[in-house]
Amino acid sequence: MAGNTAAPTGARWSSKAAFVLAATGSAVGLGNLWRFPTEAGSNGGGAFVLFYVLFVVLIAAPLLLAESLIGRHGQRSTIASAVYLARQSGASPAWSLLAVIGLIANTAILTFYCVVAGWVVYFIGTSAADVFGAVSSGTPLAGAYAGDSVAQIQQLMPALFADPVLLVGLQLAFVAVTTWIVARGVKGGIEVAATWLMPAFFFLLIGITVYAAITGDFAAAVAFLFTPDFERALQPGVLSSALGQAFFSLSLGGGAMIAYGAYASRDTNLGQTSGMIAFADTSVAIIAGLAIFPIVFSVGMEPNAGPTLMFQTLPAAFHSMPGGAIVGLLFFVLALFAALTSSVSLLEISVGWVTEKFGTSRVKASIWIGVLVFLVGVVSALSFNVWADHRPIPFIPGFENAGWFDAIDGVTGKLLLPLSGLVTAIFIGWVADRQLVNAETGLSGGGLKVWRFLIAWLCPLAVAAILIIGLFPQLL
Ligand code: PHE
Repeated sequence: MAGNTAAPTGARWSSKAAFVLAATGSAVGLGNLWRFPTEAGSNGGGAFVLFYVLFVVLIAAPLLLAESLIGRHGQRSTIASAVYLARQSGASPAWSLLAVIGLIANTAILTFYCVVAGWVVYFIGTSAADVFGAVSSGTPLAGAYAGDSVAQIQQLMPALFADPVLLVGLQLAFVAVTTWIVARGVKGGIEVAATWLMPAFFFLLIGITVYAAITGDFAAAVAFLFTPDFERALQPGVLSSALGQAFFSLSLGGGAMIAYGAYASRDTNLGQTSGMIAFADTSVAIIAGLAIFPIVFSVGMEPNAGPTLMFQTLPAAFHSMPGGAIVGLLFFVLALFAALTSSVSLLEISVGWVTEKFGTSRVKASIWIGVLVFLVGVVSALSFNVWADHRPIPFIPGFENAGWFDAIDGVTGKLLLPLSGLVTAIFIGWVADRQLVNAETGLSGGGLKVWRFLIAWLCPLAVAAILIIGLFPQLL
């Protein structure tokens, strides 16, 4: 198995705060701003949100601790850290399968993540053009895309999708910036990016939410997000979507949290930091919902637009709001910041492994993997136009109609990440040396007991059940 003799990397965050900021930066991303509202909107709102929060608390947060402790104990790349803990526990290094699945899944996620981030860049461009156009023409910033009708604004996204060259160009730009940050290293690149971008992100998000609460239909958004409809909750797909979202949003599934944990110092209390990261990420998802849905509802639009909600519904909704031009621009800048601090963590997983395994320099490894990620991502970009009628995996239940983009997103989010989580839970809960694991958690007494119960019993059983239900919905 790979990397069993690898030495510790030696790279470290400069402080515990830097670790929490970088890991929160990984967790908070398009998953919160784009995927959460999309999934909540398409899965009936409250029912989905309730399960999502429950899964975060009972399954994802405990797994976040499990993953970060694997990394911190190993202080190596994700795969080598898992091998190291397995060997120290007298177990088979084959348990590092969790990190192998994770490396493949996370790199696959990065391929389409950069495509979506490219859309964000496009909407920064259109909103900026509009704000500055409105300024120079002397029009007050009363509505976005001054002079355009809602219908015209809603055409922006289909127009972008119909233009493969532009789509791929924007994706390339985003891959390039991500690669550049990762090539600069853990402290000089990733940490610096998180330290600047995350505070700016929080500041902007709060501002936009206050704006949405004042000018939008806040009550309708609250009712939509927090009134669970239990009948809806038991419809096929809701449970596995909620679990998939919890994994995706917390950057779980054998990758980023192991990689970032590996750079955490010995005196970081991982039990505590895991709680902080999970809390921050979930709060941001809910706050993002409270920023987006009031605006959507106040102009009478539907919440279930799917992946186009953030890019088609929202710009049109901003259009009708007072001061919407500037707020719309800020919203997309915010999304770009969040996307960057997540994409660097996705890239770091494979860069860390390649530098360690093959002795490649960080710069070279980043560039090579960046190129690969870009090339595979082109497949997702083209699935909106040239290859729109490809159906790559019609034989997997639930994916009969999925094109490349949906196939990669769905298979990674709903299958591979939970699968890696399942192996992680069994490994940490049953196989790995108890004393070693307990000491790494920083937990004691009742807290430790609860965590051990969740990771050994609830996580594996619940994740296995939801994986099976997701694949065979007729069982429900
Ligand atoms: N958690 C990130 C987001 O919410 C995406 C991500 C998934 C990052 C998996 C790293 C690993 O956007």
